[in-house]
Amino acid sequence: MTTPRIEFELKPSSQPLPAAEREAVLADPGFGRYFTDHMVTVKWTEGRGWHDAQLQPYAPLSLDPANMTLHYAQSIFEGLKAYRQPDGSVAVFRPDANARRFQRSARRLAMPELPVETFIEACDLLVRQDKEWVPSEGEASLYLRPFMIASEVGLGVKPANEYTFMVIASPAGSYFSGGVQPVSVWLSEEYVRAAPGGTGEAKCAGNYAASLVAQAEAARHGCDQVVWLDALERRYIEEMGGMNLYFVEGGGADATIVTPELTGTLLPGITRDSLLTLARDLGYRTQERRISTDEWREGNADGSISEVFACGTAAVITPVGEAKSARGGWTVGDGTAGEITMRLREALLAVQTGQAEDVHGWMHEL
Ligand code: PLP
Ligand code: COI
Repeated sequence: MTTPRIEFELKPSSQPLPAAEREAVLADPGFGRYFTDHMVTVKWTEGRGWHDAQLQPYAPLSLDPANMTLHYAQSIFEGLKAYRQPDGSVAVFRPDANARRFQRSARRLAMPELPVETFIEACDLLVRQDKEWVPSEGEASLYLRPFMIASEVGLGVKPANEYTFMVIASPAGSYFSGGVQPVSVWLSEEYVRAAPGGTGEAKCAGNYAASLVAQAEAARHGCDQVVWLDALERRYIEEMGGMNLYFVEGGGADATIVTPELTGTLLPGITRDSLLTLARDLGYRTQERRISTDEWREGNADGSISEVFACGTAAVITPVGEAKSARGGWTVGDGTAGEITMRLREALLAVQTGQAEDVHGWMHEL
């Protein structure tokens, strides 16, 4: 049975932010601080399915204090970016991949699955409407934040019978205030992010709430970010708070680019996936396998691991310059951004900003 196409009602704002104020925001957007003039909402009700799809002015929500999301956290989200292209048009990076991951997250949280085409259309409508908000300088972009929450009111612990899907958008410069400076990381042996059978591979709000205490611990040790280890042995590297990790073995054209394999407890990043392909395009070998903290420490000491970097939609590619744990720390390589890290970063951004040919069909043009 094919699902009928969901029609969106368009209700443009009569009071968009004046152009001069918008330009001031775009000159220094930071990350997640400012939001565009519109948002998209779509409702789902048991027995009725998806309905009331609207593009409307950005506005606060009114929630009943007994809204189930506030108590039991049925809440999932996505993150993807729209980039200005050389001809002034706008294209979104791999929205179909985010739409499918959103469906998988929904299944894990016992929420309804939004059709892929509705997810993409909702993003398209918002970007089209707020096109003036897409930055045109360098690697800046318009970050899209689709999310879904339970809308039912009640305190019974069960999947809700009503949900709201929304998309909001925020102009994005650099995720880290230092720009492309190497970050320092804390290997968390005390707290874990996800255990087998848990929600680690879903992009659900609770995973992030549970990470904050470890992030604060990392900060106490003078580190920018936390690196999560596997829950059972606390030995194998999984990922970071909002990014996947890559290790570069060897150097030059002979380098192998290694990333922790998807074990079910880490988020299958779309940047991670794209880099596996791009690295091979550039002639590097790639591996997805388990990698332990000892392997990292020893590989760093004997020089076999030359570079480490983090990757994600918000953070793009960020070099890791220093690692610390309760058992001591080490400088990664010479502590500066590695050559292969920066080569991959440029190659990815070149596709996203339309400077390089999109041979894999990743850019969704509006
Ligand atoms: N891991 C976590 C926990 C994340 O929140 C993110 C960000 O979305 C990533 C990895 C990277 O995923 P992606 O490349 O799809 O943004
Ligand atoms: C993203 O990169 O899209 C993320 O979701 C990471 C973080 C902002 C939560």
